[in-house]
Amino acid sequence: MHSIRHTKGVPKVTFLPEDKTVEFESGKLPYSDHGKRESILDVALNFGIHLEHACGGSCACTTCHVIVVEGEKNLSEAEDDELDRLDMAAGLTLRSRLGCQAVVKGDVKVEIPSWNRNYVSEGGGSTL
Ligand code: FES
Repeated sequence: MHSIRHTKGVPKVTFLPEDKTVEFESGKLPYSDHGKRESILDVALNFGIHLEHACGGSCACTTCHVIVVEGEKNLSEAEDDELDRLDMAAGLTLRSRLGCQAVVKGDVKVEIPSWNRNYVSEGGGSTL
């Protein structure tokens, strides 16, 4: 029997503070219609994790802002559009990314900032 190594093709994404870890097979995630394919947002939506995305994943808001806790290098590199947009994000950190633009290529751990989580308690409606 030959062994199949899945370490590369099955990224795990952990969402804090819920500490919920999900995994998917690269290239096989059904597209959620929002953001880049297999982006953090796409993964979140596929697994029912609430991540705001007021502009529908087109890099035109900052509500999908996440902070990368681990695995920064397992995400696609931020393009200029994303960096320009992030400059306007509340609570910007050096590890901030837009969930709809950061494509997952390996294991990552991200935190959904509290100011974005607050939308949840208000019924998920976005004010931005
Ligand atoms: S959902 Fe608007 S920038 Fe990501």
